Amino acid sequence: MFLCFDDYAGQARELAQALAVPCHLVDRHRFPDGEVKLTLPAPLPEHVIVYRSLDHPDQKLVELLLTAGAAREQGATELTLVAPYLCYMRQDIAFNPGEVISQRIVGRFIADLFDNVVTVDPHLHRVHRLEEAVPARRALALHATAEMAEFLRVHATDPILLGPDSESEQWVRAIAESEGWRYATCRKRRYGDREVTIALPDIDVRDQSVVVLDDIISSGETVARAAVACREQGAASIDVMVTHALFVQGAEKRLKDAGVRHVWSTNSVQHETNAVSLLGLLHDSLRAWIGSSINRVRLD
Ligand code: R5P
Repeated sequence: MFLCFDDYAGQARELAQALAVPCHLVDRHRFPDGEVKLTLPAPLPEHVIVYRSLDHPDQKLVELLLTAGAAREQGATELTLVAPYLCYMRQDIAFNPGEVISQRIVGRFIADLFDNVVTVDPHLHRVHRLEEAVPARRALALHATAEMAEFLRVHATDPILLGPDSESEQWVRAIAESEGWRYATCRKRRYGDREVTIALPDIDVRDQSVVVLDDIISSGETVARAAVACREQGAASIDVMVTHALFVQGAEKRLKDAGVRHVWSTNSVQHETNAVSLLGLLHDSLRAWIGSSINRVRLD
């Protein structure tokens, strides 16, 4: 059985239907003082899959705690979390004494609740494997690169793929090599939440179509700085492809002001820029986990 919440219920239902698995909504009641009461369907089967992307995560983490705890009490013996966007993965080191390494703490919290965790392109930088960050029994990090490449093949003409920082090279390289496109990554320095400098690599973008590709847009500053640098070098067009469209307030304007033409994102985080669906990717890996008796239903 899938369990979902009112956000992402549409995606959860579509995926569950394609897997021929029932999907039920967890009912949420918010008390006047802000605490939450959840109501789960009863009875629950042995294997429960909770589908929820973890943007705006703080409240959601409490709700995962309550949901997983209640599901175990009702007899579920296998719990899977499908979170296309996995939160708190960026803080993977203490840069200053006393800084909390959120990735490790939140990763362990999730792994204590769920036997299996499935996500898409988690932000792993100094830690290379998802199970190191989220030590669940099975931790699966899927990649959106094939889906992105398929989209860009149609919507971009012989682009240069540009990663704004060294971490983005993994995705930029995978797509560029599969399509025979040129690619490069910039050098980024971050000084604050919205203070970033970007140095373009040694690649001639003059009169070229550039697609800046990153895993996350939050303030938009990283991608905006890369776009401005390309514009100053005479790029013909600058488009942006991103996996997780967190987009805090003002990010869209920042990109527009930087000269970005199109912004495309996957639907790991619901946003008006969503152009690439990850449901087929999630379907295929979940089908292998849940069992081979499930019929393949197309998710186009
Ligand atoms: C960090 O390294 C990520 O890959 C992104 O580049 C970063 O989170 C983007 O944040 P912002 O949009 O606030 O610059």
